[in-house]
Amino acid sequence: MTNTFCLSRRRILEVSTATLVLGPASKALAQAPLKIATIGAGNEGGALGTIFAKLGHPVMFSSRHPEQLNDLVATAGPNARAGSVADAVAFGDIVFLVVPYSAVEQIGRDYGKALAAKPLVVDVSNPSAARDGDALAKWVDEQGGAGLATAKLLPGAHIVRAFNNFGHNGLHGNEVLIKPTLAQTVGVPMAGDDAQAIALATKLFKETRFEPVLIGGLAKGKYLVPGSVISGEHTPDELRKIAASLK
Ligand SMILES: NC(=O)c1ccc[n+]([C@@H]2O[C@H](COP(=O)([O-])OP(=O)(O)OC[C@H]3O[C@@H](n4cnc5c(N)ncnc54)[C@H](OP(=O)(O)O)[C@@H]3O)[C@@H](O)[C@H]2O)c1
Repeated sequence: MTNTFCLSRRRILEVSTATLVLGPASKALAQAPLKIATIGAGNEGGALGTIFAKLGHPVMFSSRHPEQLNDLVATAGPNARAGSVADAVAFGDIVFLVVPYSAVEQIGRDYGKALAAKPLVVDVSNPSAARDGDALAKWVDEQGGAGLATAKLLPGAHIVRAFNNFGHNGLHGNEVLIKPTLAQTVGVPMAGDDAQAIALATKLFKETRFEPVLIGGLAKGKYLVPGSVISGEHTPDELRKIAASLK
């Protein structure tokens, strides 16, 4: 009797702990397929959204000019549609942020509250002095790099930085999935501080041929930019080794 009581109590604790751990992500995790929105539907956002649409997820691409996204929607197939940024933010369980970094501040201002309510925002955007200006690049450095800077611009958002150092050309090809040039599985490095968001990103990315590898918290997001030591295609084990050497 005592044992039964103890087990039941433990089970209750497990269930409540699981509920606490999953929190808002549990709703999205329970839904399959997940609804995905992209803010930005250019080279990279278009390629990523296409992958997930072809994997069976409803995808809404968005930009300031959604009427220009008809060809992309046609290529991505019947699961894809296009809308305004507001439409996409309302639609997505998961939002991929794939815009020039200089647009992130405005997006945070206009949609920050709604984005903070999402279980996962995947930050694919990279600061580039050449494109975004020296002042923004300097400001990002002062925040500790792109991961922490995005967290400042999107307060409260459940951010995972990922796919930042895979060029869009590598995301096309082989129909729906990313075609690795290595014989072995290619790892996708990701950085985040939020356990629920990381769990959801891991679940989603595992549907692709990429193996997600957490390299650390958002502070490590500074390495998830083109040209860093972690850029290029690596096996998951190689990524873990590189990640262990990062400061
Ligand atoms: N290209 C790559 O291989 C690659 C790889 C990894 C990461 N990235 C990063 O991903 C981001 C996008 O790169 P990209 O190459 O895809 O650029 P892109 O082809 O120029 O596309 C940018 C997209 O963002 C939209 N956009 C711009 N300002 C916006 C705003 N204020 N609100 C909503 N949408 C806005 C643009 O549409 P409208 O102008 O019509 O709004 C367009 O759809 C960059 O930060 C880049 O560094 C790119």
